[in-house]
Amino acid sequence: MKPQTADELRAMYLRFFENHGHAIIPSASIIPENDPTVLFTTAGMHPLVPYLLGAKHPAGTRLTDVQKCIRTGDIDEVGDASHLTFFEMLGNWSLGDYFKKEAISWSWEFLTSPEYLGLDPDKLAFSVFAGDDNAPRDDEAHDLWRSMGVKEDHIFYLPKENNWWGPAGQTGPCGPDTEMFIIRDGEPCGPDCSPACDCGHYLEIWNDVFMQYKKEADGSLVPLAHPNVDTGMGLERTLCVLTGKKSVYDTELFASILGKISELSGKQYGSDDETTRAFRVIADHMRTSTFMIGDPRGVTPSNVDQGYILRRLIRRAVRFGLKLGMPAGFTAEVAKVIIKQYGHVYPELVENSEKICRELVLEEERFARTIKQGEREFDKILESIEKYNLPKIIDSKRAFKLYDTYGFPIEMTVELAKEHGLPVDVEGFNERFKEHQQKSHDGAEQRFKGGLADHSEQTTRLHTATHLLHGALRKVLGTEVGQKGSNITAERLRFDFTFGRKMTPEEIAEVQRLVNEAIQADVPITCEEMTVPEAKASGALGFFESKYGDRVKVYTMGPYSKEICGGPHASHTGELGSFKILKEESSSAGVRRIKAVIGE
Ligand code: ALA
Repeated sequence: MKPQTADELRAMYLRFFENHGHAIIPSASIIPENDPTVLFTTAGMHPLVPYLLGAKHPAGTRLTDVQKCIRTGDIDEVGDASHLTFFEMLGNWSLGDYFKKEAISWSWEFLTSPEYLGLDPDKLAFSVFAGDDNAPRDDEAHDLWRSMGVKEDHIFYLPKENNWWGPAGQTGPCGPDTEMFIIRDGEPCGPDCSPACDCGHYLEIWNDVFMQYKKEADGSLVPLAHPNVDTGMGLERTLCVLTGKKSVYDTELFASILGKISELSGKQYGSDDETTRAFRVIADHMRTSTFMIGDPRGVTPSNVDQGYILRRLIRRAVRFGLKLGMPAGFTAEVAKVIIKQYGHVYPELVENSEKICRELVLEEERFARTIKQGEREFDKILESIEKYNLPKIIDSKRAFKLYDTYGFPIEMTVELAKEHGLPVDVEGFNERFKEHQQKSHDGAEQRFKGGLADHSEQTTRLHTATHLLHGALRKVLGTEVGQKGSNITAERLRFDFTFGRKMTPEEIAEVQRLVNEAIQADVPITCEEMTVPEAKASGALGFFESKYGDRVKVYTMGPYSKEICGGPHASHTGELGSFKILKEESSSAGVRRIKAVIGE
């Protein structure tokens, strides 16, 4: 009997592989413990990397599980019929145990046997690795599929970009794979249509990776002493196929979640495209957010790393919630349904249910404040257009500033502008946005290369801390304090300043408190370019004016600091986490020195 629910599919998969000698292991955290090259567990193999590389796993050499996975590369695509940012991956592993023959024959049995999924062999297609200069064509996998009875025209040799799998990071276990596809009803898009094509005719549901190599940092492939098998089957997609649904959102996994959204909004899922999209965005983002906060290594919203992705998801869901007319606090109401839906499989959600609801509502409230502030800024723009008789348009610079400095989404700028009969230069905004993303993408790549504790980002934050420290010192000790020098390493900052005596412990404590207050306030850090006299008139500090050219950059951190500086700086003070003074000492006559650190 074909499984009709997620519970049935999970149970059937695990039982099948258990019958073939696999130990069932629990899902690991969605935050990888062993792999600093990725923010989230994106596949079942992530938590197993050390074992794939040869370490002994306590449960043996044959493992099977259902792993919570998060992939956030396409957040803006969510809302269509297929994209999900959270999914469950069914997997079976051989750690130096069986190889291609067993993996392929078990995959075949599970897919086609009436005792299991019972899929029609004529509706299945398979891809195998075509080979290149570094690794041979996988004729063995091809011949194994043929020996199962697969017709020649249902097997496709595809190149590395399709049929090679390795972890998202730079190095680690990897190898050729063979992928299994459902051939959907309808005609292929053309004579060259294949599983490599993204027209949707072939839908991948399972992947068997033959991990024979370790990719080194220099890109070379070193054969592993014991080759492994790593497989992954997407639970939501497979359930969608088995139950004959058009979209993963139409499976039973989403029924109660979509039902709750309908109840709260008074709108019907499926009534029109825009409503459908909003329902899907909310359902997907709330599911992912619930799993992120509810994880044993739980994430909370912030401006960096995993916390930043979580913040984006919640805020995007809230934005679509506003469109549907959802009431305040809806995120927690939807999360409660998700916890109920998944609690028996992932008990951590039940254990952390209060925390999940609390964090969601807090972030909803923070976002509401951001929106208010953005609206105030928008009003200021309107006033200046009136006052100076400027062209009646929200230009791209202003729209981007609203987004970048005040976190005000472009969609809201467009809506507000429309109410006032003004157009927005959305195209120009998109260009600026792309440019900005390009830059942050480069930053992220840099970080992945260097691991999470990336030095350049840490130095940037320490640099920002130096400005806050400078501001706090002047507040506590008076304006005789002036910067004499600064030195930053990946671990700490060192700041030299003019001051005639040793600081008292109370003064040190007060300076530290003020800096932490500025961090807690999480104010955006803005940068403006101006001439030196303009900078001076604006009250910006600048003790090295002779070094600067005609135009200078002035960095403002809310009411806490305003200085001429070349940058770069963090985007919000909250990114610094916390601030601690380690030492205050004499540097030279009339000059004191502070060493300090920042952290979570
Ligand atoms: N690790 C493989 C994948 O995610 C199975 O497709």
